[in-house]
Amino acid sequence: MCGIVGYVGKDKKAINVLINGLKNLEYRGYDSAGIAYYNGSELKIVKEKGKIVNLEKLIKMEDSSLGIGHTRWATHGEATRINSHPHKVGKITLVHNGIIENYADLKEELIRLGYEFKSQTDTEVACALIDYLYSKFHDLLKSINEFQKRVRGAYALVIISDDDYNSLYIAKKDSPLIIGISENENYIASDVPAIIDYTNKYIDLNNGEYGIVQEHGIELYNVDGNKVTKDVLEFPRESYDISKNGYEHIMLKEIHEQPTVLKNTVNPYFENGIESLINKLPDFSKYNKICIVACGSAMHAGLVGKSLIEKFADVEVNVEIASEFRYKKVFIDSNTLVIGVSQSGETADTLKAIEKAKSIGADTLGIISKKGSSIARIVDYLLYTESGIEVAVATTKAYSCQVSLFSLIALKIAIQKDIINKDEFNLILENIKYLPIDIEKMLNNDNLNIYKSIASYLYDKNDIFFIGRGIDYSLCMEGSLKLKEISYIHSEAYAAGELKHGTISLIEPGTPVVAVITDEEIAEKTFSNLVETKARGSHNFIITTESLDRKFIENEVYLESTKVIIPNEHALFQALVTVIPLQLIAYETAKLKGEEIDTPRNLAKSVTVE
Ligand code: M6R
Repeated sequence: MCGIVGYVGKDKKAINVLINGLKNLEYRGYDSAGIAYYNGSELKIVKEKGKIVNLEKLIKMEDSSLGIGHTRWATHGEATRINSHPHKVGKITLVHNGIIENYADLKEELIRLGYEFKSQTDTEVACALIDYLYSKFHDLLKSINEFQKRVRGAYALVIISDDDYNSLYIAKKDSPLIIGISENENYIASDVPAIIDYTNKYIDLNNGEYGIVQEHGIELYNVDGNKVTKDVLEFPRESYDISKNGYEHIMLKEIHEQPTVLKNTVNPYFENGIESLINKLPDFSKYNKICIVACGSAMHAGLVGKSLIEKFADVEVNVEIASEFRYKKVFIDSNTLVIGVSQSGETADTLKAIEKAKSIGADTLGIISKKGSSIARIVDYLLYTESGIEVAVATTKAYSCQVSLFSLIALKIAIQKDIINKDEFNLILENIKYLPIDIEKMLNNDNLNIYKSIASYLYDKNDIFFIGRGIDYSLCMEGSLKLKEISYIHSEAYAAGELKHGTISLIEPGTPVVAVITDEEIAEKTFSNLVETKARGSHNFIITTESLDRKFIENEVYLESTKVIIPNEHALFQALVTVIPLQLIAYETAKLKGEEIDTPRNLAKSVTVE
């Protein structure tokens, strides 16, 4: 959720590396930011509330051979300068990602030992605890190892000791941390973008590992205190393009990347026709039930997956919000496949839900975008999306790629169960070729004008309803979330048939209702529900297919509605086209309101706390 960067070396000014790295990580958290650096005579700390530009204004450029930086998404304590990182207690200065769960008990103990606290953060407690242990052991590595034994929770820590301005000390548990490797200098980062401008070589830390990083050397230990040797890995630079690439916002760029990233995700499974699909996906025949665990949009992708797998592959699927799954009685066993869906692969609730499923004995599959992420490392089976790095907080391309992998899973199970035969498979294969072209159509200027005109109606409203049935309802949930998170307009996704059981009381003259109607089997039913809202004065927008457009074209309510007409796809892949107008309506509405689209308030890209 937060971003960490660290530098040790003489080839560059640490301050530059820290600021540049923090800017590249800003999408991970942007409440406040700070740096600590050694300028050859003293350790200086500069912190500020708000975005990195605010911090930058306070910094005076000077030589600096070592430093740490942090961009924060507040957990304990408001977004203030005092609560922002780095924190300094005694001889210890540090930045921290994660949450120290037993910080309240530790704080009491440390207060009894004479420590005083300035901030409301768990991080200052971690800092004081390490300072206390260091005053006892006079050995910072040993103190960090002792610290690990005493804290519960998640942490990625980068530490500077006042006794050693040549070294960065690090520790990691359940929060990502990598060491960037270079000649005569080394880097620390919570994620690749922080160091992408300097190196593509890195060491990935496992849980419990800690150590010391210097200009010319690195020493790492496992939680038992034994020295460990780690491989130096390389990441492909091109996958970490975080520029706007000429687009007004990163979210818009990512929306436009969808035809390409979907091709990259789906095509490998069709390289050699049916064989590739069968061979490249796991064998699902053992499972009589599938349980999907995820959060936010990834959970919405799971809901689309549920519709597809149940409809086409005839397997029962439950979708569970990961944070609920963690603490409830669950009905899974060794014949259940638990699928964790996550763009970042680091979402704490999804990670813990997968761990719980494993502990019960279920097999697990990850649908993940971030290679080598925590969830990717623990699942039994892994399907990577090829969405590339996603930076805008509101997910678009990662969501679509997740949905596309569910389409493939449904297809494979259906083929294995002889529900879909070879002829139908060939038909699907033929249809898929048009998918990127059809998505492009939904991104073109004619459609853009429709989204803009819809946005011009929505942008000053207080409440908006999205209605649909079945898979269309799941898409409504995603459309509603997109709108909420970037435009700050309240909206609700509702199962169209359920409206009349209460919520229709909220419909009054002018209330915007967006109906998603793509499923031919229940289209008329949803349409009737739209007619019901119209009778109460709603202002209607309809997202529907070309074939349904022909069907409804004579209807008066249909004629009066603003329509977005989308191309017909095979039902397994229709959602990938339907979601595009929903994403762009949210985008255009937020733009009209002048909101910060890529970094909406109160949010962070990756949610690594409970
Ligand atoms: O990294 P994950 O896919 O696990 O993240 C899950 C949600 O936090 C995420 O989808 C969130 O809902 C998005 N901001 C929605 O756009």
